[in-house]
Amino acid sequence: MPADKLLITDPDTGSNVELPVISGSAGLPTVDIKKLPGALGYFTYDSGFAATAACRSSVTYIDGDEGILLYRGYPIEQLAEQSSFTEVAYLLMNGELPDASALEAFRQEIRYHTMIHESMKTFIGGFNYDAHPMAMMMGIVASMSAFYHDSLDIENPAHRRLAAVRMIAKMPTVAAACYRHSIGWPYAYPSNALGYASRLLHMMYSVPAEPYEVDPVAANALDLLFILHADHEQNASTSTVRLAGSTGANPYACIAAGCCALWGPAHGGANEAVLRMLNEIGSVENVPKFMERAKDKNDPFRLMGFGHRVYKNFDPRATIIRKTCHEVLEKMGISDPLLDLAMKLEEIALQDDYFVERKLYPNVDFYSGIIYKALNIPTNMFTVMFAIARTVGWVSQWLEQCETPETRIGRPRQVYTGDAARDYVPLTERA
Ligand code: ACO
Repeated sequence: MPADKLLITDPDTGSNVELPVISGSAGLPTVDIKKLPGALGYFTYDSGFAATAACRSSVTYIDGDEGILLYRGYPIEQLAEQSSFTEVAYLLMNGELPDASALEAFRQEIRYHTMIHESMKTFIGGFNYDAHPMAMMMGIVASMSAFYHDSLDIENPAHRRLAAVRMIAKMPTVAAACYRHSIGWPYAYPSNALGYASRLLHMMYSVPAEPYEVDPVAANALDLLFILHADHEQNASTSTVRLAGSTGANPYACIAAGCCALWGPAHGGANEAVLRMLNEIGSVENVPKFMERAKDKNDPFRLMGFGHRVYKNFDPRATIIRKTCHEVLEKMGISDPLLDLAMKLEEIALQDDYFVERKLYPNVDFYSGIIYKALNIPTNMFTVMFAIARTVGWVSQWLEQCETPETRIGRPRQVYTGDAARDYVPLTERA
């Protein structure tokens, strides 16, 4: 049993304080440091929040040493094998798996909200055709608070749920519209007879002039990728959603903030960066050269798709997706030299002392890009795909935050390194 309090003593003054230790249902015990500044006059410093819990949450659990990922207690491997993205969305939002009628009611609720306001198309049309789809998506999601006034009262549980369902339902429609705008195709309406992933593929690739059949292999692969990306505890984008949420900002603004944080190459932008990196490496012979660059501290190059803040053993999503990646390419009859290159890179990195010592393993994004490429999804849409899936996690975490009485505005402290107070010097007296 871990101690239920920690005694901290200031060696200078001899003063001490007992800090309570919080034990969750799993994971390391966590010291509640709230009393520390008042009692001893110290803040704590934790750059990048590597050791700091900012909330209590029952949505997702990760054990980085053991490579465990649970959504509401269910192992990701079981959900990937047996569930669907829509069912996982229900689970994350509501905490329990639905029975058959609850699942159908949820599907219907989502179908009801798949269309977007017609004026949003005009808004999308205002972007230049070569705008990055992720840039468009960030703007469109933020604009939803201007279109859907009937779900902005965050004190009202019905409004909160409506906003959450709306975002899950509309993200694929927005994503497809951004894509089609960038290639000059007319926007496609959602086809509600199709499932979630098939509907997205249909909106991306169908043309008014021809019938279009969604490839079930592609739809199943996409559904699986969405399950794997649905939530991941307090990662950078989810923490951004929560920080925005803590101010009382409306849900569309909070999810837009999450989209912005997701786009960075250290986070959701990594899948796009992996493909760019593989193209840059070009062929297996060049791998050693790039490995040396990745290890050189004077070179900004990093092996994209390797390493993770929390997983220091393996990323369980990467294990699932690696297998799927091979299956998809085989079923679709695709022989991709980039996959051979990726396999070689993985093999070399896993034996290299630098990567072994630092516990740098391939993460989920190392493989997701290769699958997206096989599904004909353009590279600049990869992070948009991630955003569609992660919307489920963002809204679930935001709903939980709204329902948690102890939620306060997020307001980190700092270690000030600037000048001490000094007097203003008039312009005429400055040297
Ligand atoms: N290539 C080369 N070296 C690396 C890499 C990498 N991909 N990742 C980490 N390192 C090295 C660092 O240089 C550092 O070395 P040092 O101890 O000698 O200084 C050590 O490993 C620890 O790295 P940090 O940057 O401190 O680890 P952190 O937890 O802060 O970062 C991150 C994790 C951002 C994922 C990092 O590993 C990275 O940049 N990876 C590539 C981008 C990527 O794939 N991101 C996707 C993450 S998964 C997701 O968001 C879905």
